[in-house]
Amino acid sequence: MSETLPPLLLVGCGKMGGAMLEGWRERGLSEAVVVDPYLAAAPAGVTLVREASAIPAGFAPAAVVLAIKPQEAPAALPAYARFAGGAVFASVMAGRTVAFMRGLLGAEAAVVRAMPNTPAAVRRGFTVACAGPGVSSGQRALADALLGATGEIAWVEEEGLLDPVTAVSGGGPAYVFLLAELMEQAAVEQGIPRDLARRMARATVAGSGALLAASAEDAAQLRKNVTSPKGTTERALAVLMEEAAWPELMSKAIAAATARSRELAG
Ligand SMILES: NC(=O)c1ccc[n+]([C@@H]2O[C@H](COP(=O)([O-])OP(=O)(O)OC[C@H]3O[C@@H](n4cnc5c(N)ncnc54)[C@H](OP(=O)(O)O)[C@@H]3O)[C@@H](O)[C@H]2O)c1
Repeated sequence: MSETLPPLLLVGCGKMGGAMLEGWRERGLSEAVVVDPYLAAAPAGVTLVREASAIPAGFAPAAVVLAIKPQEAPAALPAYARFAGGAVFASVMAGRTVAFMRGLLGAEAAVVRAMPNTPAAVRRGFTVACAGPGVSSGQRALADALLGATGEIAWVEEEGLLDPVTAVSGGGPAYVFLLAELMEQAAVEQGIPRDLARRMARATVAGSGALLAASAEDAAQLRKNVTSPKGTTERALAVLMEEAAWPELMSKAIAAATARSRELAG
Protein backbone atom coordinates (compact mmCIF):
# COMPACT_ATOMS: atom_id res chain seq x y z
CA MET A 1 0.00 0.00 0.00
CA SER A 2 1.33 3.44 -0.97
CA GLU A 3 2.22 5.97 1.73
CA THR A 4 -0.75 8.30 1.19
CA LEU A 5 -4.25 6.87 1.52
CA PRO A 6 -6.57 7.13 -1.50
CA PRO A 7 -9.76 9.26 -1.44
CA LEU A 8 -12.01 8.22 1.45
CA LEU A 9 -15.59 8.79 2.49
CA LEU A 10 -16.40 8.45 6.19
CA VAL A 11 -20.09 8.13 7.09
CA GLY A 12 -20.56 8.90 10.80
CA CYS A 13 -17.77 10.64 12.71
CA GLY A 14 -18.57 9.74 16.33
CA LYS A 15 -16.34 7.80 18.72
CA MET A 16 -15.34 5.05 16.30
CA GLY A 17 -15.34 7.09 13.10
CA GLY A 18 -13.44 9.92 14.80
CA ALA A 19 -10.78 7.54 16.15
CA MET A 20 -10.29 6.03 12.68
CA LEU A 21 -10.08 9.46 11.03
CA GLU A 22 -7.34 10.49 13.45
CA GLY A 23 -5.38 7.34 12.61
CA TRP A 24 -5.78 7.97 8.86
CA ARG A 25 -4.61 11.56 9.19
CA GLU A 26 -1.44 10.38 10.86
CA ARG A 27 -0.95 7.91 8.06
CA GLY A 28 -1.42 10.62 5.41
CA LEU A 29 -4.78 11.46 3.84
CA SER A 30 -5.15 12.64 0.29
CA GLU A 31 -8.79 13.57 -0.16
CA ALA A 32 -11.40 12.84 2.50
CA VAL A 33 -15.08 13.67 2.92
CA VAL A 34 -16.96 13.14 6.18
CA VAL A 35 -20.76 12.90 6.32
CA ASP A 36 -22.11 13.66 9.79
CA PRO A 37 -25.23 15.71 10.55
CA TYR A 38 -24.06 17.36 13.77
CA LEU A 39 -20.24 17.16 13.95
CA ALA A 40 -19.06 20.66 14.93
CA ALA A 41 -16.04 20.77 12.63
CA ALA A 42 -13.83 18.45 10.64
CA PRO A 43 -10.03 18.45 10.98
CA ALA A 44 -8.05 20.62 8.55
CA GLY A 45 -7.97 19.20 5.06
CA VAL A 46 -11.14 17.14 5.52
CA THR A 47 -14.41 18.19 3.86
CA LEU A 48 -17.44 17.98 6.15
CA VAL A 49 -20.96 17.66 4.76
CA ARG A 50 -24.22 17.10 6.61
CA GLU A 51 -25.82 14.54 4.29
CA ALA A 52 -25.01 12.26 1.39
CA SER A 53 -26.65 14.58 -1.15
CA ALA A 54 -24.06 17.28 -0.30
CA ILE A 55 -21.01 15.13 -1.20
CA PRO A 56 -19.09 17.11 -3.87
CA ALA A 57 -20.04 15.99 -7.39
CA GLY A 58 -17.33 13.86 -8.98
CA PHE A 59 -15.86 12.71 -5.66
CA ALA A 60 -14.90 9.08 -6.21
CA PRO A 61 -13.84 7.42 -2.97
CA ALA A 62 -11.77 4.22 -2.98
CA ALA A 63 -13.44 3.31 0.32
CA VAL A 64 -16.66 4.25 2.09
CA VAL A 65 -16.32 3.64 5.82
CA LEU A 66 -19.64 3.17 7.62
CA ALA A 67 -19.39 4.18 11.29
CA ILE A 68 -22.98 5.17 12.05
CA LYS A 69 -25.15 3.38 14.61
CA PRO A 70 -26.64 0.13 13.32
CA GLN A 71 -30.18 1.50 13.65
CA GLU A 72 -29.35 4.36 11.24
CA ALA A 73 -28.31 1.93 8.49
CA PRO A 74 -31.66 1.24 6.75
CA ALA A 75 -32.34 4.95 6.21
CA ALA A 76 -28.75 6.02 5.53
CA LEU A 77 -27.15 3.34 3.34
CA PRO A 78 -29.17 3.54 0.08
CA ALA A 79 -27.74 7.03 -0.57
CA TYR A 80 -24.26 5.47 -0.90
CA ALA A 81 -25.24 2.73 -3.37
CA ARG A 82 -23.92 4.94 -6.19
CA PHE A 83 -20.35 4.29 -4.98
CA ALA A 84 -20.72 0.51 -5.34
CA GLY A 85 -18.63 -0.82 -8.17
CA GLY A 86 -15.68 1.51 -7.52
CA ALA A 87 -15.40 1.66 -3.75
CA VAL A 88 -15.07 -0.94 -1.02
CA PHE A 89 -17.51 -0.44 1.86
CA ALA A 90 -16.00 -1.05 5.30
CA SER A 91 -18.53 -1.21 8.12
CA VAL A 92 -17.95 -1.19 11.86
CA MET A 93 -21.69 -1.36 12.62
CA ALA A 94 -22.46 -4.03 15.19
CA GLY A 95 -24.76 -6.80 14.02
CA ARG A 96 -25.33 -5.56 10.46
CA THR A 97 -24.48 -8.49 8.18
CA VAL A 98 -22.79 -8.31 4.80
CA ALA A 99 -26.02 -9.61 3.20
CA PHE A 100 -28.07 -6.90 4.94
CA MET A 101 -25.74 -4.15 3.74
CA ARG A 102 -25.64 -5.51 0.17
CA GLY A 103 -29.44 -5.49 0.29
CA LEU A 104 -29.27 -1.71 0.77
CA LEU A 105 -26.18 -0.94 -1.31
CA GLY A 106 -26.79 -3.24 -4.25
CA ALA A 107 -25.65 -6.74 -5.13
CA GLU A 108 -22.41 -5.52 -6.68
CA ALA A 109 -21.28 -3.75 -3.50
CA ALA A 110 -17.98 -5.04 -2.12
CA VAL A 111 -18.47 -5.04 1.64
CA VAL A 112 -16.11 -5.67 4.53
CA ARG A 113 -17.74 -6.11 7.93
CA ALA A 114 -15.65 -5.43 11.01
CA MET A 115 -15.97 -5.38 14.77
CA PRO A 116 -13.64 -2.93 16.57
CA ASN A 117 -13.45 -2.11 20.28
CA THR A 118 -13.17 1.11 22.29
CA PRO A 119 -9.41 1.07 23.01
CA ALA A 120 -9.38 2.23 19.37
CA ALA A 121 -9.70 5.72 20.90
CA VAL A 122 -6.09 5.41 22.15
CA ARG A 123 -4.86 3.45 19.11
CA ARG A 124 -4.87 0.19 21.11
CA GLY A 125 -8.01 -1.30 19.60
CA PHE A 126 -8.51 -4.80 18.27
CA THR A 127 -10.60 -5.19 15.14
CA VAL A 128 -11.72 -8.43 13.49
CA ALA A 129 -12.81 -8.14 9.86
CA CYS A 130 -14.53 -10.37 7.34
CA ALA A 131 -14.66 -9.74 3.58
CA GLY A 132 -17.91 -10.35 1.72
CA PRO A 133 -18.26 -11.56 -1.87
CA GLY A 134 -16.44 -9.63 -4.60
CA VAL A 135 -13.91 -7.84 -2.35
CA SER A 136 -10.66 -7.73 -4.37
CA SER A 137 -7.26 -8.26 -2.78
CA GLY A 138 -6.50 -4.55 -3.27
CA GLN A 139 -9.77 -3.57 -1.57
CA ARG A 140 -9.03 -5.94 1.28
CA ALA A 141 -5.57 -4.39 1.71
CA LEU A 142 -7.14 -0.92 1.79
CA ALA A 143 -9.75 -2.03 4.36
CA ASP A 144 -6.93 -3.58 6.41
CA ALA A 145 -5.06 -0.25 6.44
CA LEU A 146 -8.17 1.80 7.30
CA LEU A 147 -9.60 -0.47 9.99
CA GLY A 148 -6.13 -1.25 11.36
CA ALA A 149 -5.37 2.45 11.86
CA THR A 150 -6.76 2.23 15.40
CA GLY A 151 -4.73 -0.77 16.58
CA GLU A 152 -4.41 -4.44 15.67
CA ILE A 153 -6.52 -6.15 13.04
CA ALA A 154 -7.24 -9.80 12.25
CA TRP A 155 -9.34 -11.36 9.48
CA VAL A 156 -11.75 -14.29 9.57
CA GLU A 157 -13.23 -16.09 6.58
CA GLU A 158 -16.50 -17.07 8.27
CA GLU A 159 -18.83 -14.16 9.04
CA GLY A 160 -20.60 -16.10 11.82
CA LEU A 161 -17.44 -15.81 13.92
CA LEU A 162 -18.15 -12.10 14.33
CA ASP A 163 -20.83 -13.00 16.91
CA PRO A 164 -18.35 -14.53 19.40
CA VAL A 165 -15.83 -11.84 18.40
CA THR A 166 -18.42 -9.23 19.41
CA ALA A 167 -18.77 -11.02 22.75
CA VAL A 168 -15.04 -11.32 23.43
CA SER A 169 -13.20 -8.30 21.99
CA GLY A 170 -16.16 -5.99 21.21
CA GLY A 171 -17.53 -6.14 24.74
CA GLY A 172 -14.26 -7.20 26.38
CA PRO A 173 -13.23 -3.72 27.56
CA ALA A 174 -16.45 -3.58 29.64
CA TYR A 175 -15.50 -6.77 31.49
CA VAL A 176 -12.06 -5.37 32.24
CA PHE A 177 -13.55 -2.09 33.48
CA LEU A 178 -15.92 -4.10 35.68
CA LEU A 179 -12.88 -5.84 37.13
CA ALA A 180 -11.44 -2.43 38.08
CA GLU A 181 -14.78 -1.44 39.68
CA LEU A 182 -14.99 -4.66 41.71
CA MET A 183 -11.37 -4.48 42.85
CA GLU A 184 -11.97 -0.91 44.03
CA GLN A 185 -15.06 -1.99 45.95
CA ALA A 186 -13.29 -4.97 47.56
CA ALA A 187 -10.38 -2.73 48.58
CA VAL A 188 -12.80 -0.32 50.29
CA GLU A 189 -14.32 -3.28 52.15
CA GLN A 190 -10.84 -4.04 53.52
CA GLY A 191 -10.57 -0.52 54.96
CA ILE A 192 -8.66 1.25 52.16
CA PRO A 193 -9.90 4.84 51.57
CA ARG A 194 -12.02 5.20 48.38
CA ASP A 195 -9.57 7.48 46.55
CA LEU A 196 -6.63 5.20 47.12
CA ALA A 197 -8.74 2.14 46.27
CA ARG A 198 -9.73 3.73 42.95
CA ARG A 199 -6.17 4.72 42.03
CA MET A 200 -4.88 1.26 42.93
CA ALA A 201 -7.55 -0.57 40.93
CA ARG A 202 -7.13 1.63 37.84
CA ALA A 203 -3.35 1.51 37.89
CA THR A 204 -3.29 -2.23 38.50
CA VAL A 205 -5.62 -3.02 35.60
CA ALA A 206 -3.92 -0.53 33.27
CA GLY A 207 -0.40 -1.59 34.29
CA SER A 208 -1.21 -5.29 33.93
CA GLY A 209 -2.59 -4.60 30.44
CA ALA A 210 0.58 -2.74 29.50
CA LEU A 211 2.72 -5.58 30.88
CA LEU A 212 0.70 -8.14 28.94
CA ALA A 213 1.04 -6.07 25.77
CA ALA A 214 4.79 -5.65 26.21
CA SER A 215 5.58 -9.23 27.26
CA ALA A 216 6.34 -12.22 25.06
CA GLU A 217 4.92 -14.47 27.79
CA ASP A 218 1.29 -15.52 27.69
CA ALA A 219 -1.29 -14.48 30.27
CA ALA A 220 -1.12 -17.76 32.21
CA GLN A 221 2.66 -17.41 32.67
CA LEU A 222 2.37 -13.79 33.76
CA ARG A 223 -0.25 -14.89 36.29
CA LYS A 224 2.05 -17.64 37.59
CA ASN A 225 4.87 -15.09 37.91
CA VAL A 226 2.78 -13.22 40.52
CA THR A 227 1.78 -16.38 42.39
CA SER A 228 4.24 -17.57 45.05
CA PRO A 229 3.54 -21.02 46.48
CA LYS A 230 1.43 -20.75 49.64
CA GLY A 231 1.31 -16.95 49.26
CA THR A 232 -1.49 -14.41 49.30
CA THR A 233 -2.19 -14.36 45.54
CA GLU A 234 -2.45 -18.14 45.49
CA ARG A 235 -5.12 -17.87 48.19
CA ALA A 236 -7.13 -15.35 46.15
CA LEU A 237 -6.77 -17.33 42.92
CA ALA A 238 -8.03 -20.46 44.66
CA VAL A 239 -11.32 -18.57 45.17
CA LEU A 240 -11.46 -17.01 41.70
CA MET A 241 -10.43 -20.13 39.80
CA GLU A 242 -12.86 -22.53 41.42
CA GLU A 243 -14.76 -24.27 38.64
CA ALA A 244 -18.04 -22.48 39.44
CA ALA A 245 -16.32 -19.10 39.81
CA TRP A 246 -14.51 -17.23 37.01
CA PRO A 247 -13.93 -20.14 34.57
CA GLU A 248 -17.62 -21.00 34.43
CA LEU A 249 -18.88 -17.42 34.75
CA MET A 250 -16.67 -16.12 31.95
CA SER A 251 -17.74 -18.85 29.56
CA LYS A 252 -21.42 -18.27 30.45
CA ALA A 253 -21.03 -14.50 29.96
CA ILE A 254 -19.36 -14.92 26.56
CA ALA A 255 -21.99 -17.45 25.50
CA ALA A 256 -24.80 -15.06 26.54
CA ALA A 257 -23.26 -12.15 24.60
CA THR A 258 -22.67 -14.37 21.55
CA ALA A 259 -26.32 -15.46 21.62
CA ARG A 260 -27.44 -11.82 21.89
CA SER A 261 -25.25 -10.84 18.93
CA ARG A 262 -26.90 -13.62 16.86
CA GLU A 263 -30.36 -12.39 17.92
CA LEU A 264 -29.53 -8.78 16.92
CA ALA A 265 -28.25 -9.89 13.51
CA GLY A 266 -31.65 -11.53 13.05
N1 LIG B 1 -18.28 2.12 20.61
C1 LIG B 1 -18.00 0.83 20.61
O1 LIG B 1 -17.52 0.20 21.56
C2 LIG B 1 -18.20 0.02 19.38
C3 LIG B 1 -17.60 -1.24 19.27
C4 LIG B 1 -17.81 -1.97 18.11
C5 LIG B 1 -18.59 -1.45 17.11
N2 LIG B 1 -19.15 -0.23 17.23
C6 LIG B 1 -19.98 0.26 16.16
O2 LIG B 1 -19.46 1.45 15.64
C7 LIG B 1 -20.55 2.22 15.14
C8 LIG B 1 -20.39 3.64 15.62
O3 LIG B 1 -20.41 3.64 17.04
P1 LIG B 1 -19.92 4.90 17.85
O4 LIG B 1 -19.74 4.45 19.25
O5 LIG B 1 -18.79 5.55 17.13
O6 LIG B 1 -21.25 5.79 17.73
P2 LIG B 1 -21.40 7.37 17.77
O7 LIG B 1 -20.32 7.99 18.59
O8 LIG B 1 -22.83 7.66 18.10
O9 LIG B 1 -21.11 7.78 16.25
C9 LIG B 1 -22.05 7.72 15.23
C10 LIG B 1 -21.93 9.04 14.45
O10 LIG B 1 -22.70 8.98 13.25
C11 LIG B 1 -23.49 10.16 13.14
N3 LIG B 1 -24.68 9.90 12.30
C12 LIG B 1 -25.91 9.51 12.68
N4 LIG B 1 -26.71 9.33 11.60
C13 LIG B 1 -25.97 9.61 10.53
C14 LIG B 1 -26.22 9.61 9.12
N5 LIG B 1 -27.39 9.26 8.61
N6 LIG B 1 -25.20 9.93 8.29
C15 LIG B 1 -24.01 10.25 8.77
N7 LIG B 1 -23.70 10.29 10.09
C16 LIG B 1 -24.67 9.96 10.96
C17 LIG B 1 -23.81 10.49 14.56
O11 LIG B 1 -24.24 11.82 14.67
P3 LIG B 1 -25.23 12.18 15.92
O12 LIG B 1 -24.54 11.74 17.15
O13 LIG B 1 -25.38 13.61 15.80
O14 LIG B 1 -26.49 11.40 15.66
C18 LIG B 1 -22.46 10.23 15.24
O15 LIG B 1 -21.58 11.31 15.09
C19 LIG B 1 -21.84 1.57 15.62
O16 LIG B 1 -22.45 0.93 14.52
C20 LIG B 1 -21.38 0.57 16.63
O17 LIG B 1 -22.19 -0.60 16.56
C21 LIG B 1 -18.96 0.54 18.34
